[in-house]
Amino acid sequence: MSSPISSAAAVNHPSSDSSPTSDIRDIPGGYGVPFFGPIKDRLDYYYGQGEVEFFRARMKKYNSTVFRCNMPPGPFMAKNPQVVCLLDAISFQILFDNSKVEKQNVLDGTYMPSTAFTGGYRTCAYLDPSEPNHAVLKGFFISQLAKLHSKFIPGFRQSISGLFTSLEEELSNKGKANFNSLNDIMSFDFVFRLFCDKNPSETPLGPTGGPKLVDKWLFFQLHPLISLGLKFVPHFLEDLVLHTFPLPFGLIKSDYKKLYNSFYNSAGSILDEAEKIGMKRDEACHNLVFLAGFNAYGGMKALFPALIKWVAIAGEDLHRRLAAEIRAVVKEEGGVSAAALEKMSLTKSVVYEALRIEPAVPYQYGKAKQDIIIKNHDSKFSIKKGEMIFGYQPMATKDSRVFDKPEEFVAERFMSEGEKLIEYVYWSNGRETDDPTVDNKQCPGKDLVVLLSRLMLVEFFLKYDTFTAEIGKLLLGSLVTFKSLTKGT
Ligand code: HEM
Repeated sequence: MSSPISSAAAVNHPSSDSSPTSDIRDIPGGYGVPFFGPIKDRLDYYYGQGEVEFFRARMKKYNSTVFRCNMPPGPFMAKNPQVVCLLDAISFQILFDNSKVEKQNVLDGTYMPSTAFTGGYRTCAYLDPSEPNHAVLKGFFISQLAKLHSKFIPGFRQSISGLFTSLEEELSNKGKANFNSLNDIMSFDFVFRLFCDKNPSETPLGPTGGPKLVDKWLFFQLHPLISLGLKFVPHFLEDLVLHTFPLPFGLIKSDYKKLYNSFYNSAGSILDEAEKIGMKRDEACHNLVFLAGFNAYGGMKALFPALIKWVAIAGEDLHRRLAAEIRAVVKEEGGVSAAALEKMSLTKSVVYEALRIEPAVPYQYGKAKQDIIIKNHDSKFSIKKGEMIFGYQPMATKDSRVFDKPEEFVAERFMSEGEKLIEYVYWSNGRETDDPTVDNKQCPGKDLVVLLSRLMLVEFFLKYDTFTAEIGKLLLGSLVTFKSLTKGT
């Protein structure tokens, strides 16, 4: 399909600039009066306008995709909630330039949860690449993932076959099935077996205890970014409890210990490897729990429901086309393999489109390491050293100057010529055409995640012809309830 950006422009469109500063536009927007300005922005964000309208309204008001505002949580969780907000596909890319932005302690934004949640250590995702431990930890995980490569496809097929069995059972018993909770169990099962070579049910976590413990632990770290949307709880009360003070680690200490011990006792061979390269065993294990629980399970918890949601909404016609492609290629290739997945152009495009339209991690932050000049499609702006830069990804990847019909799920968007637009898919905290390294902050699970997403569609449409689902909203993502499922003939 055609796109508003020509492929030549698409390839080299830097977000920063070193040319003269005479044509620089002032960054519009502001922060309001201290304390009250951030509280007002927080209330707008959670209860007044809502997340998307918060950004849309300001973009319209300032006639700019780059502006200043406060980002939640603000007082008293975050010392400084002031950010320069980026909403277009070009300026957003400054966040990937690690020579210009610092990524220390900004994983969750303008606040950082206590390191008590991670055994007293700052885990890999909180480290800037300039910190030596980043390369040690990330390099270690990249090498472990490479070693585990051959387990990806068989391991995921095993986990997902359990999900399908439960989905069918729940549908026939209750007339509907909650995909999210089954997906949580499947995702934890896959991740735990990948790193520990053991079923979680063989540990004190039991068959379903793992996701529950991780969910609690994630909630205690991410509550400042969450609104429960409960009708019977007044907004001011929720705001006070969730967004004003950190919830203490002490309340979930024993849960975390149980989780940590399960990994510690089961991931012996990875921890041995970590010790061999000079890491402390407990630091390696806290990092492994964070990687498996926060990064991988947390990511899969949001990603797969989003993928299934958009495929559900697209309807039966897309289901028929996916099933036809998947079944034909699997037949031709004699099975499900990495090579077979690579040949499924519609399936691949659908996955990229889901990652574009609903990125699982919507917020990215970075602090200017120096004075920088950034660019969007129309203007240049000056950002001072130390200012916090924030990108709201769901709008950057719906930039109408890059994508046609950006708000629509276009299944074949990334096929043929459309492949050139893959570089504007940013879900992994980098361009989809870039690779994670120890020198950047791109997700080291990038290729695995894309593989698993394709595999989810492949396994699904090898087994089923079509399905329907009801779509809702959950704390940090989409809720998918299956209403019907038609088995393949
Ligand atoms: C399944 C969906 C996943 C999503 C949506 C996701 C997304 C992301 C994003 C956006 C970041 C960058 C965070 C930031 O600095 O702003 C990141 C970092 C990271 N991800 Fe993933 N991820 C996923 C799965 C995984 C998996 C499967 C692994 C490993 C097995 C993994 C390991 C990591 C690690 C270690 C980092 C920190 C990288 C660094 O510090 O340089 N992620 N991920």
